[in-house]
Amino acid sequence: MKAEPGLNKTGKEALILGIETSCDETAAAVVAGGRRILSSIVSSQVELHARFGGVVPEIASRHHLTLLNTIIDQALEEAGVKFADLQALAVSHGPGLVGALLVGVATAKALAYALRLPLVAVNHLEAHLYANYLNGAPLTYPAVILIVSGGHTELLLLEGPGVIRSLGRTRDDAAGEAFDKVARLLELGYPGGPLIDKLAREGNPAAIDFPRSWLGDDSRYDFSFSGLKTAVINHLYHARRKGETVSIPDLVASFQEALVEVLVEKTLAAARSCRAKSVLIAGGVAANSHLRERMQQRLSPALPDLTLHVPPLELCTDNAAMIAAAAYPLYRQGLFAPLNLNAHPGLQIGSA
Ligand code: KG4
Ligand code: ZN
Repeated sequence: MKAEPGLNKTGKEALILGIETSCDETAAAVVAGGRRILSSIVSSQVELHARFGGVVPEIASRHHLTLLNTIIDQALEEAGVKFADLQALAVSHGPGLVGALLVGVATAKALAYALRLPLVAVNHLEAHLYANYLNGAPLTYPAVILIVSGGHTELLLLEGPGVIRSLGRTRDDAAGEAFDKVARLLELGYPGGPLIDKLAREGNPAAIDFPRSWLGDDSRYDFSFSGLKTAVINHLYHARRKGETVSIPDLVASFQEALVEVLVEKTLAAARSCRAKSVLIAGGVAANSHLRERMQQRLSPALPDLTLHVPPLELCTDNAAMIAAAAYPLYRQGLFAPLNLNAHPGLQIGSA
């Protein structure tokens, strides 16, 4: 019997094993029919990198190498499936750290060859969007997408399924990078985003009027966060010189307020001018409680017909369920990767 696309030979939903090793999370997941998560195992290396204040690429690659096979076994076991039940393998092949990506890519190729299964190469950045599809919400087009992670800040327009157009991106620091750098400056720990998110709840967001960089009309959908970071450094420097004590909760709440306001207002402006029917947020910074709240508060009254899709918290940061989900439409179209697939550290949005 020949299987229908998307279904396996028994007529059940196709099972895809996703593999993710682009940065400091070693992850594997089994997803059925592109939407139903049967297992999602994520092993974070945060503790290994914390004392360096950021990800050390060499340590990340070595750790992926040690852990990945065990994580894959756990994902299969938790899903209650065997290698023989799978229909395809999916791997994140960029963007990311080259050594880290190579571990996932080499493992996926070896498995695809040994199991004689198709291999699907997934763009890690685009995969972040799928955290929203896994949530089960149907999407209406056109959709404006804000991807905010440790390495990227992108505003995109999804005109229809798979038709992506870039509206703008950061010119310097990514939103997550700004959170991490400010946290490092304040010696709060790594990664900085969740720590600032928590500490900011005790502070006054209006305490310090940090700059918002709106940029000119031609760049109205671009972002710049390095000036905000410098403003935080200058504020601390001047306060200390004058012998004033600085309330760290007030400082981080005001920093977060400035950053979130820019993200939300630019997304709203793009949604308005593109007559978007939905807005999606994705990436690690989409876990930020203030961003989630503020986006809802601003969009709902301004554009009442628009649907805001916010991924569940556990799917905002790197995971392999989003990789398996993103692979599903490619698998259905028979868009398979060759066994000489390489890692692409600088892969852009919209590139295969
Ligand atoms: O998407 P992700 O897991 O990895 C990349 O692909 O970069 O994003 C990680 C980033 C880090 O910069 C981290 O500080 C940030 O997401 N992040 C947050 C929060 N949780 C994670 N930033 C702000 N608030 C949070 N709650
Ligand atoms: Zn990511």
